[in-house]
Formats: sequence, structure tokens, C-alpha cells
Amino acid sequence: MNIQENISLKKYNTFGINVNAKRFVSVNSLYELKNILKEEQNVFIISGGSNMLLTKDIEELVIHLNLKGISIDRENDNSVYLTVNTGENWHDFVLWCISLNYGGLENLSLIPGNVGTCPIQNIGAYGVEVKDTITKVEALEIETGKLVIFSNEECEFGYRNSIFKNQAKGKYIITSVSFELTKKNHALNTSYGAIEQELASKNITKPNIKNISDAIISIRQSKLPDPKKIGNSGSFFKNPVISLCHFEKLKSKFPEIPHYIISESSIKIPAGWLIEQSGFKGKRLGDYGVHEKQALVLVNYGNATGKNIYQLAQSIQNTIKSKFSINLEIEVNII
Ligand code: EPU
Repeated sequence: MNIQENISLKKYNTFGINVNAKRFVSVNSLYELKNILKEEQNVFIISGGSNMLLTKDIEELVIHLNLKGISIDRENDNSVYLTVNTGENWHDFVLWCISLNYGGLENLSLIPGNVGTCPIQNIGAYGVEVKDTITKVEALEIETGKLVIFSNEECEFGYRNSIFKNQAKGKYIITSVSFELTKKNHALNTSYGAIEQELASKNITKPNIKNISDAIISIRQSKLPDPKKIGNSGSFFKNPVISLCHFEKLKSKFPEIPHYIISESSIKIPAGWLIEQSGFKGKRLGDYGVHEKQALVLVNYGNATGKNIYQLAQSIQNTIKSKFSINLEIEVNII
């Protein structure tokens, strides 16, 4: 076990925030991980580092999950069942599936992060959520060192939510995720406006999963910053859901307000629109700000601190609260 001291976490989080880990270890196997947990349970887990804002140095032992490997558990004519270790890069895994014509994840192309964190916030984009393909999640219980299996149902998935953000938070380390993907008759999801436009611009009328993935990659590249170039954590806030009555009041004041009907009594409003209307889109304060093409994304242009970005987030929340009476909930984990 190679524990290093005073390591910068800048390259381990997609926001590119430079905080110090007092002690740091990268683990490559379940065996190593179990051994570390026998010695130490006050740990801080980092995987792809794509959904966290680090606002302080980390005093606990930082464990970087680097467990790799994909296995095909079984397959039949229609489906393939895979188990993927936690440290595999998400987008590389999606591309691997597409190369083998395994369908179901193409709409989730180019999402930053690792496979092991995809269930935590139930990643979603362009009409698809990862919960639709997950069969089970395997996790180590930190306190006991025992492996526990969570079925899809037991993961209690919701919009950007799961048991791992609630009762199970801080208690488990996800070690692998299992998926069921289609081998033929893929259920293509092109209903999200921008996908159809993108396909039409390439004259594709009968898309396959590769075409859809390519379309999504180009849509995402056109409006979301590449974390390798500009530090960010994707959508910083959740899209808020408000009551119909609240929505009607807002609509009389802002007739053009975009919205999605969730149920008879609840309406989802794009947070990006609220933030743009409040004048924050493209705003830059020194080394940090709000992305110029997508107001839902906060960015670090270089040497911003987590506190800088958190303060900006709070000032956005306060403005949205007073202008629209809406509580914007932060999606990213604030550490
Ligand atoms: N909008 C604006 N200004 C902006 C951004 C958005 O007015 O700066 C309005 C537009 O009306 C637009 C609407 O918001 O039509 C929706 O925007 P978009 O389609 O870009 O999607 P989003 O609601 O901002 C969500 C997810 C993204 C996901 C996209 C595509 C959340 C919090 N975010 O964003 O997820 O990629 O849909 O499906 O649900 C992520 O979670 O990190 C993420 C990037």
C-alpha cells in the first residue's frame, strides 16, 4: 500500500480545484481496497471527481478508485449483461458499447466521470437516465468491509438522485455496476429536440446508435465546456420543479418561460433559463464564472478556489429566490 503525503487533488477533480490531500492512495484492486479499509475507515473517496466542488483541504485518507475491467456475465439473442469496475472511464465505456453494437447508453455519451459514480446521481441526458439500464450495483460497506449488492429497485433512483445520495451516503464504496444492454432492436431515443435537428443536418433519417452518439457528442461539445480545458462539473444545479399555481404566476410575468410538464400539479423549469434571466450567463469574476453558452455550468478558468465558486453559486441562488421565488438546489457535492 503506497500512501503518498501532501498530494494536490487538482488533476483528480474535473473542476480543477487545487486542494491538498494530507494522505493519498490510489487502489487498483478490490483486495487492496479491502485491506486499506481494515486499517482505516475515516476515508474520502475520489473516483472520476466529476461531481464535486472541493472547498477545503482533505484531512482524511483520500482513496482514489482505479479499479478497471469490464466483463460480459451472460448474453442471449437480445441482450448482453455486463459488469464494469468502478474506475472505468464512463465515456470510454459508452464508446466500447457502441463499437460492439450494445445499445442503451448512446444518449449518455461524453458525460465526464467514471462508471462507479454513474448510479450515485443517476446520470441523465437527452431523454435517457442510466437507471434504465442498471441491473445492480455492488458496493463495499465501509464499516464492515463486506460486499453488498443493491438491486436496481434498492438503488431508489430518482431525477439526479439515488440511495447513495441519501441513507447510504458515506457508508459504501461502489466497486462495480452491472448493466443490461440491447444487442438488436435498440430502443432509440431521438425525441429530444436538438438530436433530431443534428441528425437532419447530416441527412440521417434512419439513425443507428453510433449516429445518435455522434450527434450527442457534437451537441454537447457545442455548449458544454470540456473539463480538460475549462474546469467544470457539468450542471451545477438541478432543474427545479414548482407547483402549477406557482408556474402560472410566473408565466403571467414571463410569458416565454420554458417548462416541462411533470404531472398535473408540477412543472419543471430549466435552471439555465432562470440563471440567464438573472443576468449571470457568461459572467466572469477573475478566474471563475458562469459558462457563456450554458448558464447551468459554473467554470474555473484556472486558479479559482472552491470557496470562490461556492460563493458565486450562493449569490445565484439568492437572486433566483428573490426574482422567481424558486429555491435552486445544488446538484454537485460540496466538500
Ligand atoms: N436554457 C437557457 N439558457 C441557458 C441554458 C438553458 O435559457 O443558458 C434553457 C433553454 O430554454 C433550453 C432549456 O433551458 O431549451 C434546457 O436546456 P438544455 O437542453 O441545455 O438542458 P438543461 O436542462 O440545461 C439538462 C441536464 C444536463 C443534460 C441536458 C440534456 C440537468 C440539471 N441537466 O440540462 O445534464 O446534459 O439536460 O439532456 O438536468 C449534468 O447533469 O451535468 C448535465 C449536463
